[in-house]
Formats: sequence, structure tokens, C-alpha cells
Amino acid sequence: MTITIVGHGYVGLVSACVFADFGNKVWVIGHSPEKLQRLKNGDPIIYEPGLAEMLKKNLKAGRLIFTESYDEAVKESSVVFITVGTPPKKDGSADLIAVFHVAQNIAKNLGDKFTVVSCKSTVPVGTNLDVEKILNKNKSKKATIAVASCPEFLREGSAISDTVTPDRVVIGSNDKKAIEILLELHSTFPGKRVVTNLPSAELIKYASNSMLAVKISFANLISFYCEQTGADVEMVLDAVGMDKRIGRVFMYPGIGYGGSCFPKDVQALTDTGKNLAIDVSMLEAVEKINHHARKLFVDKVLKHVGGKTIAIWGLAFKPDTDDIRFAPSVYIIERLLKEGFSVKAYDAAAMSNVRKIISDPKLTLVDEPYLALAGADALLVLTEWNEFKELNVQNVKKLLNSPMLFDGRNMYDPEKMKTDGFTYFGIGRN
Ligand code: UDX
Repeated sequence: MTITIVGHGYVGLVSACVFADFGNKVWVIGHSPEKLQRLKNGDPIIYEPGLAEMLKKNLKAGRLIFTESYDEAVKESSVVFITVGTPPKKDGSADLIAVFHVAQNIAKNLGDKFTVVSCKSTVPVGTNLDVEKILNKNKSKKATIAVASCPEFLREGSAISDTVTPDRVVIGSNDKKAIEILLELHSTFPGKRVVTNLPSAELIKYASNSMLAVKISFANLISFYCEQTGADVEMVLDAVGMDKRIGRVFMYPGIGYGGSCFPKDVQALTDTGKNLAIDVSMLEAVEKINHHARKLFVDKVLKHVGGKTIAIWGLAFKPDTDDIRFAPSVYIIERLLKEGFSVKAYDAAAMSNVRKIISDPKLTLVDEPYLALAGADALLVLTEWNEFKELNVQNVKKLLNSPMLFDGRNMYDPEKMKTDGFTYFGIGRN
């Protein structure tokens, strides 16, 4: 099949590479000539394991074409996916300007045949019907269209395998022919098929992300109880998770969730609920607990650290990505700097992104984890990159002014840390 993907962020570029890898011809439309040139050269721009190889392979095979122009791409395509960003506005609602702008451009370039236009961007319920109105208003009489919602569930860091082997393929449309075409396009993908109407598909994405955020905030809430009562959160949640109805997956406490999806999607679902006069206090509590988790972590540091120099390992909102959007590390560093600390930090991928938003000279970024430790009064581990799992205990103790470790992801065994001579602070484990 020939398809077009508008946007080349995480969802757009990974989807494009995977569809091309499965033998489809994929046009990718962007608006930055500089970024398009890098993509044409095989540079994926974003950090995602395995993506560069897949991009180069499919460029070479001629199945991936990057362009600024809608004309040829849209005319040739049976399906056009919209994957542009839907960032949160100040009030938490999703900003749909880019989606609607792209819909206009698609409409003006449709050929005479039937085309499915499908939002892969996460959009509030009802957005696809607005897209349909824009398409119908701006298209030529000869062009026929149907809209569909085809949400994507990939995670950063494992985006390719998530896309190649999805748990489910959700296709929402009120048009039978559109559903048939999308089922055919996805025929090579494993996973269950969920064929449904438009609003259900739109809501599935928000409900999924919000449910995951609920699990994380619940784990963090229980950790708050553990901190005050002497209970061990990992043992509590292990036992809770042994109940098959609950499970342990995605119930790991820490310094809260970040990234481009959970914070924005919980806020957008809250906003939609408010507009529908639904009581959204549960979603508001999820967000509140998420912020409280990182605040409590810094409070603990301020209470226990004597000196004014802090070492940090891990800045990305999760391992295997350079993404720092809504990352707990940003809040933590900014608060420490405000409190008069100097911070020396290391991350395998995200340092240049942090420097773009924190220019304070009291934040030093170092090229190697152990370089951050010399002369620091405590080590804070904020992202569970694999390279931090095995500590060189002697080195850490030798380099730090005092052997104090704040583990924001419960990576280390408290008993072992104690035996190794550390003053150790985990999450909900003291
Ligand atoms: C998420 C969804 O998982 C994915 O399905 C959707 O398409 C996009 O949003 P992503 O944001 O890439 O993916 O990362 P994810 O692995 O879900 O982690 C999100 C955040 O939650 C990270 O900051 C992570 O550290 C945190 N997290 C995750 C926890 O704090 N505890 C957990 O148990 C799991």
C-alpha cells in the first residue's frame, strides 16, 4: 500500500519506518527543510534504539520518501496518518492547531480516489469529526474521504518493538470501507484487533495512558504511607501484585512519571471531563500525587544533606531516551539550584537537552558518571539506566564527601547499601 504520514516525531517516524519495513511505500511530510534533509541522510533526529538502522535500510530500499510537499504524497496514498504534536495548553487542554492545519493541507491535495484520513496523534474525543468537517469543507468535489482514529501505544526506548508487536490494533471509524483498508494495512501486525466507532477509539488512548498513570500514582501514594510507618513499599506492592486481578506491572514507585504522554494526557482527559461536567477529582489526584512524589524526594535531600554540592545520575524521564519533557530531573535540579546547591550531573543521552533549558553555571554536566561524584555531598539517582545498576562501591565512597545515596527509582537493595556503608534513602523503604 502507499501511505502518507504527516509529522516525524516519535509516533510519525517510528510508524513510517515500521510500515516501510513491512513493504509499504511511505511518504513522510514535514515542514522543516533542515530536519527533512537530516532524515533523508539517515539521521533519525530523535534518540531511539534501532531507529537509525531501520531508517537507513528503508531509505536505501526506496520505500521511505521525506518531503515538504503534500501534493504527490497525498494524491498517491490510500491512507494519510496525522501524527503531529498535540501539546498541552496552559489550561491543560490539548492544542489542536497543528492537527487542523494539517487537515486543511491534506484536503487541498486529495486525489480523485477514496482516501482514509486517520489521526494517530492523541486527540480528545470528537476531534476526528472536526477533522472530517475541515476535510469536507476544503476538498474538491471529486475527492471522497472517511476519517478514522488509529491510536498508537508505543513507548519511547522500545518504540520499534512496541510498534512491530502491538498488544492490540485499535481502528475506530464510522465508515466500513475505511475500516477494511486499515485492517488490510495492519494485516502483517500481530495483536488483537479492536474495531470500534470513532469516539471509542479516541477514548481508548486516553483511558489507557490515564490508567497507567493511576497505577504509578497509586504506587507512589502507598510509598508515602510506607515512609511514615516503616513498611517496605516494594514488599507491599509485590504482595498486592500477586493478586492476579491487580498485577505488579507499572506499579513501581519513584519520583513520578514524566515524558510527553502521561502528564499531557491526564491533563487533557481532565479537561475533557470538566467540559462534560464529569467529576474529575480522581484524575486531579493522580497529577497531584505525581508532583508530590518529586517534591518529597527533594525535601528529603534538603533535610539530610549537610553540604551544598549534589551529584546526579540520570536526567531523561526514563532510560533509553534523550527526552526530558516533564522529566522529574528538571524540577529536582531547578529546586536544588534555587536552594543554593551546585549540581554535577551525568546522563547517557539527555545532557544537551537539559542544557538547553537550564543555563545556570551552577549546573555542571560531565561525560562520565563517576566524574559527577568528586567532592559531592550526596548522589541522587533519578533515571534507572542499566549502566547505574552495578555500583563501584569503593569508587563511589572514595569520591563522595559522605557516602549518602538517594535512590529515586529503588534500583538498589537497602540491606546491601547498608552493609556497604552507605546512608541510603530509597522511596518508601526507610
Ligand atoms: C507511555 C505509554 O506507556 C505508551 O503506551 C504511550 O503510547 C505513550 O506513553 P512513555 O511515556 O514512552 O510511554 O514511557 P513509559 O515507559 O510508559 O513511562 C512513563 C513514565 O512513567 C516514566 O517517567 C517512567 O519512569 C514512569 N513509570 C513507569 C513509573 O514511575 N513507574 C512505573 O511503574 C512505570
